[in-house]
Amino acid sequence: MPIRHWHQAGLLLALAGPLSGALAERLAPPPGLTPLGEAARLPNPYRGQPAAIQAGQAAYEEHCAACHGEQASRAVAEGPDLRRLNSACRRLTDAALQAHCLRDVDAYFLRSVHEGKRRAGLMHMPAWQGVLPQETIWAIRSFTESRPLPPPRTLPDLPPVEPDR
Ligand code: HEC
Repeated sequence: MPIRHWHQAGLLLALAGPLSGALAERLAPPPGLTPLGEAARLPNPYRGQPAAIQAGQAAYEEHCAACHGEQASRAVAEGPDLRRLNSACRRLTDAALQAHCLRDVDAYFLRSVHEGKRRAGLMHMPAWQGVLPQETIWAIRSFTESRPLPPPRTLPDLPPVEPDR
């Protein structure tokens, strides 16, 4: 059954068990990366490191791609395009300001992944606190921010509206 909507994906994940509440199991960090310990590290300690980008790609495919798009390369997916998170920071020309901006986005990224996204009791994205170690989260962030940005979307690029079936 193709997953057409993010809430179906969320429901499937919830039913699948490993991510839901008491059954959540802590996963091992990717091998070969510098261990980061328990205390949250900011900014992303792996930014730009090829080994982290590679490990992050594998973890992204496993945990995030179903909702955020394969290879972080689809402009249209159920979840937001994570390549665009740094867009505002990239426009800053002052290096110190840009570093500050990236650190803020890093904090938002870590919090989003830890707490998940829930609105009006509906799970949009599962919470990964206690499941994904921060090594994995920072590796994923390193991967998504290393992906090239798509050209800005214009109206004719948008997919035709299909009636819900
Ligand atoms: C079940 C689907 C699903 C999965 C799996 C999922 N996400 Fe999400 N994610 C979403 C949706 C939907 C949103 C937007 C929710 C909202 O804004 O209320 C979101 C939002 C986010 C945001 C905030 C983005 C923004 O533009 O504000 C980040 C960061 C994020 N996800 C990272 C991840 C990472 C990293 C993974 C893998 C570890 C992941 N997500 C797995 C569905 C998912």
